[in-house]
Amino acid sequence: MKTRVTELLNIKYPIIQGGMAWVAEHSLAAAVSQAGGFGLIGAANAPVEVVREEIRKARELTDQPFGVNIMLLSPHAKDIAQMVTEENVAAVTTGAGNPEPYIPMWKEAGIRVIPVVASVALAKRMEKHGADAVVAEGCESGGHIGQTTTMALVPQVADAVRIPVIAAGGIGDGRGMAAALMLGAEAVQMGTRFVVAEESIVHENYKQKIIKARDIDSEVTGLTTGHPVRSLRNQMTREYLRMEQEGASFEELEYMTLGSLRKAVMDGDVKGGTVMAGQIAGLVKKEQTCAEIIQEMLSEAGALLKKDWNIG
Ligand SMILES: Cc1cc2nc3c(=O)[nH]c(=O)nc-3n(C[C@H](O)[C@H](O)[C@H](O)COP(=O)(O)O)c2cc1C
Repeated sequence: MKTRVTELLNIKYPIIQGGMAWVAEHSLAAAVSQAGGFGLIGAANAPVEVVREEIRKARELTDQPFGVNIMLLSPHAKDIAQMVTEENVAAVTTGAGNPEPYIPMWKEAGIRVIPVVASVALAKRMEKHGADAVVAEGCESGGHIGQTTTMALVPQVADAVRIPVIAAGGIGDGRGMAAALMLGAEAVQMGTRFVVAEESIVHENYKQKIIKARDIDSEVTGLTTGHPVRSLRNQMTREYLRMEQEGASFEELEYMTLGSLRKAVMDGDVKGGTVMAGQIAGLVKKEQTCAEIIQEMLSEAGALLKKDWNIG
C-alpha cells in the first residue's frame, strides 16, 4: 500500500513506531522496520555514543530503513544531530524544541526530517523550514502532550500543509488507522501499542499495567509547569498531582520525576515510577510480535476502507 509517506521512507506499510524514551531501543525499532513499518530509536537524554551504538545494533538486525527520534531539550541533542548524519539513518523525528538549525544539515545528508507537532502553526512553520513530513500528535497520546485531540488536529494540519501528515495519539488498531487515513493522514505513528510488543524490552510489570488499563486510567501531570505528560495513574501520579495542587516549584516537581520512567521501564516499579502510556491503553489487550501487530492493523484497516492491500 502506497502513500507519500511509504514513498518518502521507502517502507512497505504506513505504520511508524514512535520514538520512546527508554522503550524504543534497537530491538523494537529493528523489529518494526523488519515487519515493513518504520522503527525509531528514541534518543531521549542518552549520550551520543549510546545512541550511535543503538543505531549500529539495529542495523545488524535489519537491512530495512529506520530512524532516530531526537529530543531537542537533551543536553546531547547537538551532538546527536551531527552523529545521525555520520551514521546515515533514514529519517529523524524531533520533539521538545526547535529543529530548524539542524534541518539544512540533515537534508544535505539525505535524511528525511519529520518534526512532531501539536498545532497547525508549528506544522506550517516546519513545512516552511523544509520538513519532509510532520507527525501531528494529539493529546490522547502517551508521554509529553499538547492540547488538541488527534481527531481535531489531524484534519486541520492536513488542510494547512502540503507535505504529508502522520497521525499519532490514540491509534491502537485498524479502526484507528482507517480513521486517521480518512482524516487526511498518510501514515500513523503508534507508541502505546508497541510498548507491549514481544520485542519490546520493557519490564513485564509495565506491559501488564498497560494490558490491564481501562479507558479512564491515564492521568496528565505537569499542566502547571507547562510540560504536561500522560501516564497511567499510580502512586507517582497521585503524589505529583498533590504536590502540584500544593503549589510545588518546577524544580521540586522535576526532582521528583528524575529517573522515574527508567524505574518503571527497566526495574518494573509501576507504583513509584512513571508509566507513560496513552488513553488507548484500554484497547491493548495482549502482547504480540511487531509483525502480528502490523499485519492485524493492515487487515482491519483494509477491510474497513475496502482496500485489498498486498499484505505479507
Ligand atoms: C513510554 C513512552 C515514551 C515516549 N517518549 C517519547 C520521546 O522520547 N519522544 C517523542 O517524540 N515521543 C515520545 N512518546 C510519544 C510516542 O512517540 C508516540 O507519538 C505516542 O505514543 C503516540 O500515541 P499513543 O501512545 O496513543 O500511540 C512516548 C510515548 C510513550 C508511550
